[in-house]
Amino acid sequence: MQLKTLTYVSRASLDITERDLLAILEVAQRRNALEGITGLLIFNGVRFLQIVEGPEEAIDLLVAGLRRDPRHTAFEVQDERFVTARSFPDWSMQLVQVSTAFQEAQREVVGVLPDEIDPAIRALVLANTQSIGGPVSLPD
Ligand SMILES: Cc1cc2nc3c(=O)[nH]c(=O)nc-3n(C[C@H](O)[C@H](O)[C@H](O)COP(=O)(O)O)c2cc1C
Repeated sequence: MQLKTLTYVSRASLDITERDLLAILEVAQRRNALEGITGLLIFNGVRFLQIVEGPEEAIDLLVAGLRRDPRHTAFEVQDERFVTARSFPDWSMQLVQVSTAFQEAQREVVGVLPDEIDPAIRALVLANTQSIGGPVSLPD
């Protein structure tokens, strides 16, 4: 089956809290499970990097909603492609909070990526992780 994979970065709204983040994750996991979407959400306290994969129509609908979501701004698609297999089959949405400079962020991300991931997708995630390395600490 043809699946769409889309990668974007965005900037969290200034007043975002840990509670907001957990609410985003909970809704994302529930809805993605229903829509056949899987993926990874990386957050450094300032910026998001998310990669989502699933049926084209479901991804396009999700992205339209994400563009309207006031909890983040500066939404920029980094990559869009079609793949035949999922890179994150077991994750309705996996949150990785990175707390450090990008090299350490990359190590943290590498540590959780599935072994069997497509090398092109691995390279994409790591290249984009560089752009969001930074400190993280949110109010509760
Ligand atoms: C950084 C970020 C990531 C999100 N990821 C997802 C996701 O993977 N799946 C999802 O359904 N909603 C996700 N959301 C929430 C959507 O933007 C939207 O609020 C949610 O899908 C409910 O949409 P609706 O009530 O407007 O239909 C995310 C929101 C943010 C800010």
